[in-house]
Amino acid sequence: MFITLEGIEGAGKTTILPQLVAVLEDHGATCTLTREPGGTDFGRQVRAILLDPEHRGLDPHAELLLYVADRVQHVREVIRPALARGEVVLCDRYMDATIVYQGVARKLGRELILKLHALVLGDLRPDLTLLFDLPAEVGLARAWSDFDRGERSRRESRFEQEHLAFHEAVREGYLALARREPQRFHVIDANADPQTVARQARNALTRALESQVP
Ligand code: TMP
Repeated sequence: MFITLEGIEGAGKTTILPQLVAVLEDHGATCTLTREPGGTDFGRQVRAILLDPEHRGLDPHAELLLYVADRVQHVREVIRPALARGEVVLCDRYMDATIVYQGVARKLGRELILKLHALVLGDLRPDLTLLFDLPAEVGLARAWSDFDRGERSRRESRFEQEHLAFHEAVREGYLALARREPQRFHVIDANADPQTVARQARNALTRALESQVP
């Protein structure tokens, strides 16, 4: 089973990952926890380039190709082998992020992203996606307070430095994807307190696991 977590900056998805691993283990699953960009040695270097605010002038197509390069290597080295071993792969961001960040917010268009993925990645899609949704200004304020408290390095702040309208477009893009594929997406209200957010995420995952045909 391939599960992804998505959401705008500051949505809190990364904090919740360990609790989701615990739910999976309670259900007897062996879990591979990974992320994009940066799920491989190669990808960690690509991530540093992509998130560095020094690269604010990066061409949107160059940005897209770097995310896809990270993904191609990640799918080959980590995701497909883990799925082949029968593990559950829990991935912090995947292709939906490219559709909304590069396709919608950078205006490269959804069709280009889909075509490119079909060419280089085939048809690997998540079985379940938890979308952590909250107003863009709330998410951005949380993300910046993480930087201020030193919990994250400002060398990873290129996207947080984008204007509010960019993040609003990302949020709307994600919600539109969730409306298109209501079976796959579970939308979590990430504007609630951390315990409530974690409970919603655990419950959504538990329901999905229990509704699976054995
Ligand atoms: P993270 O902070 O969740 O690790 O994500 C890194 C940043 O990269 C985040 O701002 C979203 C962005 N991103 C894209 O723009 N396109 C993508 O395909 C992916 C996976 C992430």
